[in-house]
Amino acid sequence: MSFCAGIQAGPPIEVFALTQAFTTDTFDKKVNLGVGAYRTEESKPWVLPVVRKIEQLMAADQSLNKEYLPVLGLAAFSQAATKMLLGDDSPALADGRAVGIQTLSGTGALRVAGEFLARTCGRTTIYSSEPTWENHRLVMLNAGFQEYKSYRYWDPATRSLDLKGMLEDLRAAPERSVIILHACAHNPTGVDPTPDQWKQIAEVIREKNLFPLFDSAYQGFASGDLDKDAFAVRSFVKDGFELVCCQSFAKNFGLYNERVGNLTVVTSSKEVLANALSQITLLIRGMYSNPPQHGARVVATALNDPTLYQEWRVCIKTMADRIISMRAGLKERLIKLGTPGNWDHITNQIGMFSYTGLNVEQVEYLRNEYHIYMLKSGRINMCGLTNANLDYVAGAINDAVNK
Ligand code: LMR
Repeated sequence: MSFCAGIQAGPPIEVFALTQAFTTDTFDKKVNLGVGAYRTEESKPWVLPVVRKIEQLMAADQSLNKEYLPVLGLAAFSQAATKMLLGDDSPALADGRAVGIQTLSGTGALRVAGEFLARTCGRTTIYSSEPTWENHRLVMLNAGFQEYKSYRYWDPATRSLDLKGMLEDLRAAPERSVIILHACAHNPTGVDPTPDQWKQIAEVIREKNLFPLFDSAYQGFASGDLDKDAFAVRSFVKDGFELVCCQSFAKNFGLYNERVGNLTVVTSSKEVLANALSQITLLIRGMYSNPPQHGARVVATALNDPTLYQEWRVCIKTMADRIISMRAGLKERLIKLGTPGNWDHITNQIGMFSYTGLNVEQVEYLRNEYHIYMLKSGRINMCGLTNANLDYVAGAINDAVNK
């Protein structure tokens, strides 16, 4: 008898199952609007030219070796990543109350933050938006939280933020609950609070003694502007909050499979931070000991060299602009086709995704009839659209909605 006899098969991971189904589909006009990964106008993955260049420099650099990194990672990377998030003039950085820790992409940062908050700091309950990135739940339950709850976020009627519902749910949350907030380009809805709405959210978080955990997977990628995309985190820090922020460099550097992430921890004092770091060091040592170097060194090199930094800024602008133009293109076509409904949300939403409002039947219809793949929630990856397939996709959505 097998050592694992009797266990049940786990459910598939929707987003990866979708990629698999798309890959094996032989239809020539198939379109993948599923997994959140950038695609060029030719529907190809994009290795950023600045990344290629740095990798060539690294390959030629005989001084680099394969020694272990420290448990908390490459300092040149984590310092630059934290500075990119908090801004050069951050009061927390100036006071020595903020620090970065290299992690295994944004997911790894979430896991380390979750373990620290649940196991070390004794927090029991965590909230995320409804809907949110589907992996938040699994990561946080595995990290040790006893309760995973959600707050209202998306209003299907207006296809925008349900601020009233969100504030009500946060007000009703038990004190000391951890609140996951998307720093920018909310996944999956593409709907972000306005600066004034962030202010109201911050007030409730302070009033109810909740703890903010930011997930920042799209800084720079969302609007092309690193400062604008860091607005929420920076305003919380300016208002004196302690917080953690989980940064991914998968999207903004196109380094999906290099697992480059950073966990920024902002505390009220230097002394608390030193103790926190020593505990996080033990958590990481017990999980994976220390992180890999390659991707982190690529990012560190780009962030710390003025010329390469400018080259990278051009790359993120290229990606952000292409997405913005696909949003406009899709909306324009749906309006031209007279597709029932209001499609303003396509251009109002920001970042990689649009929450189209398509229902499960329509999503299935699009897949079965047109070989267009998207999440059951109706989320589409805007990068899967190109000038070559926009007419096809818009026509298909029009057909699905009119059915
Ligand atoms: C997504 O949301 O599609 C990406 O962040 C990929 C993932 O891991 O889910």
